Amino acid sequence: NKGKYEHYMQKEIHEQPESLKTTMRGRLIRGGSCKAKSVLLGGIKDHLKTIRRSRRIVFIGCGTSYNAALAARPILEELSGIPVTMEIASDLVDRQGPIYREDTTVFVSQSGETADTLQALEYALENGALCVGITNTVGSAIARNTHCGVHINAGCEIGVASTKAYTSQIVVMAMLALAIGDDTISSQARREAIIDGLFDLPKTVKEVLKLDQEMKDLAQLLIAEQSLLVFGRGYNYATALEGALKVKEVALMHSEGILAGEMKHGPLALVDETLPIVVIATRDACFSKQQSVIQQLHARKGRLIVMCTKGDAASVCVGGSCRVIEVPQVEDCLQPVINIVPLQLLAYHLTVLRGYNVDQPRNLAKSVTTQ
Ligand code: UD1
Ligand code: M6R
Repeated sequence: NKGKYEHYMQKEIHEQPESLKTTMRGRLIRGGSCKAKSVLLGGIKDHLKTIRRSRRIVFIGCGTSYNAALAARPILEELSGIPVTMEIASDLVDRQGPIYREDTTVFVSQSGETADTLQALEYALENGALCVGITNTVGSAIARNTHCGVHINAGCEIGVASTKAYTSQIVVMAMLALAIGDDTISSQARREAIIDGLFDLPKTVKEVLKLDQEMKDLAQLLIAEQSLLVFGRGYNYATALEGALKVKEVALMHSEGILAGEMKHGPLALVDETLPIVVIATRDACFSKQQSVIQQLHARKGRLIVMCTKGDAASVCVGGSCRVIEVPQVEDCLQPVINIVPLQLLAYHLTVLRGYNVDQPRNLAKSVTTQ
């Protein structure tokens, strides 16, 4: 039932304040005068000791689920102190990459039925790793075949383009990082700040959804373009990849997410006064580096659309003209949840304006159960 919305993708984008609430329901503990704020993930609490002892955490997934894991990787590394590596499921299987008994492998999948991810799971089980599932579908193959896991609880997602599952997956993985790091005193203040940020997140997502009309206007400007680049780094490298995936998957426009640190190693050659480029430059430890990326793109007369923190419009566009998308600031590791929303809206409006099928893009299926 689409309710007041025209398309499922639109409904699911606008549902995110609620889906994030259900993802966190019963899992965040407010703490009190003598009790610290903490996270309770019923599905993994008995496995935390084993996870903390593992020599590596390996995230495995495809498409949007892979991107969600990439967004959560920095906070997991920070709070666990364990090396975290990333694997696209099909590539791990193609390479027969090394997986060890001392590894914790984490399988991320909205549907829980993706053939590539399931094959990688089978492979990790054969190699004796601890297998953890993060899935939106209770009773799915991944939920059944992993040793333990966390249900995303984002509610049923119908649009082929994953939107609300993405933001909920990031939140689950941030909670996973908090749970793993829970025994470390030195990071307690950091963890508590993130938990406060999680409590406020649905409200902030509601605020960023107000950019709907602005994103529709931007889509109108981009309607006839051939290509859109998206530059990000740090926490928001994943946002660049995921924003580009949304645009290509539903709006059928070429789009590429680029790690801004790689700009001079090739992509800079593409920059001219015609190609539209989104640069994600919200406040975090990478902000000054992104400012210098913007300056270099200006110097090549790049056609820039800069996503920045509210109030930063004037300071990010020094030395050139650009369009700005201003978003509210949250804890750095949760910022990807906020930053993807305008790009989801942009992809949605671009698709409708270009006259394509938003909920069932050509050649794609919601659940990819064949290889
Ligand atoms: C569980 C209940 C929830 C209830 C809550 C109350 C289910 C599905 N969930 O939620 O309804 O409100 O207790 O305390 O009944 N699992 C995997 N692999 C996966 C995902 C999950 O093995 O990919 C396993 C978990 O290890 C766990 C079980 O499935 O044993 C349920 O996981 P989850 O729903 O995340 O647990 P809770 O949040 O505790
Ligand atoms: O169900 P899964 O999360 O395992 O699906 C993985 C990908 O097929 C999926 O995310 C795909 O990339 C989406 N259509 C993206 O919107």
